Amino acid sequence: MRQRHSDYMLWAKTQSRAKFNLATSGVGSFPLRELSVTIDQLEINGDSTYGYAPLQHAIAKKCGVDPDCVVHAAGTSMANHLAMATLINPGDEVLLEQPTYELLTSTLLYLGAAIKRFSRSEENGYALDPAEVRRVITPKTRLIVLTNLHNPSSVLVPELALLEVGELARSVGAHVLVDEVYLDAVYINTPRPSFHLGPEFIVTTSLTKVYGLSGLRCGWILAQPDLARPMWQLNDLFASIPAHPAELLSVIALENLDQVCQRARKIVEHDRVLLAEFLSNHKSVSTPRTEFGTTAILRLVNGNVDQFLCRLRTEQETSAVPGCFFELPNHFRIGMGVDTEMFREGLKRIGKILDTTSK
Ligand SMILES: Cc1ncc(COP(=O)(O)O)c(C=O)c1O
Repeated sequence: MRQRHSDYMLWAKTQSRAKFNLATSGVGSFPLRELSVTIDQLEINGDSTYGYAPLQHAIAKKCGVDPDCVVHAAGTSMANHLAMATLINPGDEVLLEQPTYELLTSTLLYLGAAIKRFSRSEENGYALDPAEVRRVITPKTRLIVLTNLHNPSSVLVPELALLEVGELARSVGAHVLVDEVYLDAVYINTPRPSFHLGPEFIVTTSLTKVYGLSGLRCGWILAQPDLARPMWQLNDLFASIPAHPAELLSVIALENLDQVCQRARKIVEHDRVLLAEFLSNHKSVSTPRTEFGTTAILRLVNGNVDQFLCRLRTEQETSAVPGCFFELPNHFRIGMGVDTEMFREGLKRIGKILDTTSK
């Protein structure tokens, strides 16, 4: 039986919320009124076939690519699905980082991939180690999948490591899919999309996590035109045509992306300072220090994570994501960038439970 569900999404949609919600992964919502859109800029129906031209151009401009290399999709979720479903057939060998975002695993299982894992180990600070990819790659490998920034750790992959992985992929005729939904949270010297590193690279991303514009479902794939075309055609079997008002709003958002980004950046940067202080004061959790990103994965040094999260919720009205969704059963993930007061209070409450767990 093929997998037809995601345990993580079910949990996220039904059980993640709490008064102090640290189970988030992206920044808080950007309010529509701050985009200063007027009703006459919107319309119900429009000229959207294989893309809406103004949106194709706006995405292409942001990414420094030709519009023919852009496939607009419903969020990074659909971008990942379309990209993987176009690139692989059932039974194909796919290399997937471990730990990773659960939906990448679920979607690959749904597509019938033969998944092999390469480790981004905690001991190695969750770094992408090309030697690990070399260890598992075979002439049968069709696709290598990873996240940058890494979900759950927010670790940034250096360009050199990506180039090495690209070279390995090329040597066996495989592609590299890089989910870059968190990459624009690198606010200083933001790396260019890895699409620019070679024709074997395919990138997926969206305006959701870093910009707080999830409701627009503006995601996209960057791929060479000969791959972009079949991705568009596969999309005809799914969403086919996006909601046009969302396309129009996405064009406006892309024109004002700096303003949208700055709002979230302030909150993320405040929260990251709070996280650093918290980690310095609590040796009962450990995590690699990162400079950027909206998530951190914390190891609980002593005690049971399920019991810890249960107490956190019932005694302290605070939620975090169980590490089991990332195949890290001794860990939990927390999110930044929504509301600094909520984050401060959430950390304080985590600290209260930690203080009683570690004694
Ligand atoms: C690595 C990764 N990719 C994709 C997504 C989904 O993004 P979107 O909301 O754009 O579909 C998430 C959401 O948490 C994610 O963490």
